[in-house]
Amino acid sequence: MTEPEDSEPTLIRAPLRGEVSRRGFISALAIAWGAFGLASAGILGACVRFLFPNVLYEPPQEFKAGFPSEFAVGMVDERFKASYGVWIVRESLGFYVLSTVCTHLGCTPNWLASDEKFKCPCHGSGFIITGINIEGPAPRPLERYKVTLAEDGQILVDKNTKYQEEKGQWSLDGAYLFYSA
Ligand code: FES
Repeated sequence: MTEPEDSEPTLIRAPLRGEVSRRGFISALAIAWGAFGLASAGILGACVRFLFPNVLYEPPQEFKAGFPSEFAVGMVDERFKASYGVWIVRESLGFYVLSTVCTHLGCTPNWLASDEKFKCPCHGSGFIITGINIEGPAPRPLERYKVTLAEDGQILVDKNTKYQEEKGQWSLDGAYLFYSA
């Protein structure tokens, strides 16, 4: 079989300067759509995230700390310092609960048993065992939290209620738990 004599060879013309080939155009279109899709997904994600509130997972504000017999008289109990931010102090007459937040700028003091005081590592404020400030820039005593006995006889600490000495609140019900063994 012979080819028709008048058929001409097919010429493939190279794209002129500034002209876009079909393949290039499709690639550019695909990239543009991809970028658009990513941007849309980002905006949608931001909108969905906006629907949910920021939730801080903090330990419960109210907790049982154990039975009174588990606390030694005259001691600062540090078992709940890291987990709940409190010291529980047992006296011969009862209990009180101190906040571990320094009243200067909020650092966490350390209980120095040999010096019988709380000492803040940030700017040197010191507090005696009752929580009263005695040195450094702290302007007021440590705060106390509500302490009562739960129905089962355990020490119940409620951080929702706090008491400030400078407002005369340490004498209120709940600021001190009278207890004799
Ligand atoms: S934060 Fe405690 S002394 Fe400054």
